[in-house]
Amino acid sequence: EKNGYKYFMLKEIFEQPRTIEDTFRGRIYSDEGRIYIEEVKLKEEYIKNMSNIYIVACGTSYHSGLVSKFLFESFAKIPAEVDIASEFRYRDVILDEKTLVVAISQSGETADTLAALRLAKSKGCQTLAVCNVVGSSISREAMHVIYTHCGPEIGVASTKAFTGQVTALYILALDWACKRKTLTIRELKKYLKELWEIPLKINKFLKNSQSVYDIAKVFANKRGFLYLGRHINYPVALEGALKIKEISYIHAEGYAAGEMKHGPIALIDKSMPIVAIVVKGKIYEKIISNIEEVKARGGTIIAVADQSDKEIGNKSDYVIYIPETDEFVSPLMTVIPLQLLAYYISVILGCDVDQPRNLAKSVTVE
Ligand code: F6R
Repeated sequence: EKNGYKYFMLKEIFEQPRTIEDTFRGRIYSDEGRIYIEEVKLKEEYIKNMSNIYIVACGTSYHSGLVSKFLFESFAKIPAEVDIASEFRYRDVILDEKTLVVAISQSGETADTLAALRLAKSKGCQTLAVCNVVGSSISREAMHVIYTHCGPEIGVASTKAFTGQVTALYILALDWACKRKTLTIRELKKYLKELWEIPLKINKFLKNSQSVYDIAKVFANKRGFLYLGRHINYPVALEGALKIKEISYIHAEGYAAGEMKHGPIALIDKSMPIVAIVVKGKIYEKIISNIEEVKARGGTIIAVADQSDKEIGNKSDYVIYIPETDEFVSPLMTVIPLQLLAYYISVILGCDVDQPRNLAKSVTVE
């Protein structure tokens, strides 16, 4: 069943080029700039008039929700908020029929996410689920569902579900941008092409991922890690930190790099590895200066950077090079080395990669 892989997690990491493609295939036509999501039957009129989106989820699915906030705002110009389902359900959130509530869940059985969805429904909102398991409770409870086509995820640490969710949310945001006329057809085609190229790029990286193992060997015995990202890669920093915590039991935190000087920079010393996501885009220069601040205090920088980046080598201690992507699809690429890094560290430390202590694959109790 593991197809020769030592653990399900590794198998699932390597499946991602295919599961991402399976999630967009038949739904996008990049040459024509057309998107067709058969299952989502929200009326065009509703999409044009919706006032805001609330995204609710837990864990890794919450992180894909955080990524999608950037997509809904930048592509479709819809105000979007993301909340942890267990928080959302106990707040007095202001909701009405013009609010769309999007619940994201791999298993479709997470108790808090299900409860958040029921709450939204009772307030008269439209509801949409992004789900991997057909016929699951959340997919049945929601008025609309878009399925990720990842196949069963067995490893407790979520990997291919995250990239499947980001893919589904990316095409939803583009579809709604199209309907709301907030992107030109040229932009639409460009973003579809970028997505189309992602599976190839991930494959290319995975074939050459030895550098991640080498770095894992150097840092497996550290007591803690910091993960830094900005903009659409800030949620990826959170996800990288979560992966390490879950399967290696090493403390890690994800931070928006601009927040460093407001406190966490005090943690930096020679023993602290800092994984920084520094892909090209709107905030490239900003994150470079954040890295310089950290370096000046003796921290060790492991950068995840574009292949074409000629300068990053001088500014960091280690570099994991990835194929260049547009910043809006980049989370699909940047998360891959972080998943692999957590995986290798877990293996090196002799942890139970697929069944980490204290964790269950689906959390059906509050
Ligand atoms: C992380 C992980 C959990 C789940 C969370 C939500 O690797 O597996 O954080 O992401 O429990 O689960 P779903 O997506 O099934 O609702």
